[in-house]
Amino acid sequence: MCGLGTMGRHHARVLATLPGVRLVGACDPDPGARPALAGLPVFPDLDTLLELDLDLCVVAAPTLAHAAIGSRLAAAGVHTLIEKPLAAGAEEARALAAAFESAGLVGCVGHIERFNPVVQAMRERIRDGEVGTVLQITTSRQGPYPQRIRDVGVILDLASHDIDLTRWIAGAPYVKVSAVTSKVAGASGHEDLAAVVGVLRDGTVVNHLVNWLSPVKRRQVTVTGELGCLRGDLLDGTLWFHGDPSRAAACGERQSPPGGSPVRCALTRQEPLQAELEAFVAAVRSQAAPAGRTEAVDGVGAVVPMWAGAEVMDVTAAILAEPAASVEVSAAGRPVDDPVRRDLARASLVVPASPGVDHAVALAVADRGGTAVASFDHDTWPPGGLPTLVAGYVPVPGSRRWF
Ligand SMILES: NC(=O)c1ccc[n+]([C@@H]2O[C@H](COP(=O)([O-])OP(=O)(O)OC[C@H]3O[C@@H](n4cnc5c(N)ncnc54)[C@H](O)[C@@H]3O)[C@@H](O)[C@H]2O)c1
Repeated sequence: MCGLGTMGRHHARVLATLPGVRLVGACDPDPGARPALAGLPVFPDLDTLLELDLDLCVVAAPTLAHAAIGSRLAAAGVHTLIEKPLAAGAEEARALAAAFESAGLVGCVGHIERFNPVVQAMRERIRDGEVGTVLQITTSRQGPYPQRIRDVGVILDLASHDIDLTRWIAGAPYVKVSAVTSKVAGASGHEDLAAVVGVLRDGTVVNHLVNWLSPVKRRQVTVTGELGCLRGDLLDGTLWFHGDPSRAAACGERQSPPGGSPVRCALTRQEPLQAELEAFVAAVRSQAAPAGRTEAVDGVGAVVPMWAGAEVMDVTAAILAEPAASVEVSAAGRPVDDPVRRDLARASLVVPASPGVDHAVALAVADRGGTAVASFDHDTWPPGGLPTLVAGYVPVPGSRRWF
């Protein structure tokens, strides 16, 4: 183990229970973290830990440290799983992926949602054609500010989960992305609220709402297709199918209200972290280093290759690099909140190509002061619908809209 904070302790707990795995030690520069591994050596630095001749290592250090730690482990010939996000930037992430690949080592990233039974079932059901052609994927992930995360903002820390799971369940990469973000003084020093809109290569419209400013914890994924909708709650572990119940019934065992919709989907139960670590250990045992972005290393239960982690970093970099959509709000400069007189200044709007399909639209808008005011999908559409929003759209230089 490298890093024995919140996530590192969970990894250590699970690793210690895996058959054939012997947890031999850890490193963490914080002396306060070291008692976490009772009875085992915990060193202040990685080089001393490497003297134990490790077969594999899990890295759960702060994100900014991932690149340096990962390169050292690749050079030392140690199969490695690095927590998400893979690195602080896309270039670092690619360098890590390349280093593990060229050394013939298993290099993977802890995008744990791929091991969440709800997300796995969504992917399978989409592939089974349960909702037909997918039109839109929306995610909502919010909660209270995590005091310990100081090195990155909410895009890297939270949206990275949603970007990876969306790309994975859809089976298509992002081709366009835009966002409105805001930064509230006193929090991390990075952006802490974002409304992201984007398009996947297959035309699917995506919309991610993330923040760590809310007392309400939420982790939701909604997939809307031509034939129905899958609605997953990653907190309570439920998945619902909305649509023709006879269609749902053809796709597996479910607890279903008589003749009704929504239908609750039956799921397998597993601890995602255990499944993730079992996959890592299995990959190391078979020496099946994930060498690329092919279906063979992309299925349910497979490790998430570092190249996938690097792809997520490409998307987060594009989101954070867009000057027209990235805004900062200081406490002192924050405009008075007057929704009636609010003047829309920036917006990103995505409408799918098919005429008449106006329910698969994602929008992020900001007022002139730079506050993210809203993001809509078909579930939260305001009265008046699309024409109202388009009429209220006031383009400013540099803002983008896609039709
Ligand atoms: N997969 C998930 O759902 C999930 C959840 C939480 C955190 N994470 C990720 O895990 C990583 C750690 O997050 P956390 O919440 O455990 O943070 P944390 O602050 O609780 O723990 C980080 C630990 O790493 C130690 N550390 C700092 N520099 C180090 C170094 N160079 N070498 C070894 N250890 C070092 C710190 O002393 C601390 O004990 C982050 O990248 C985060 O994004 C993933």
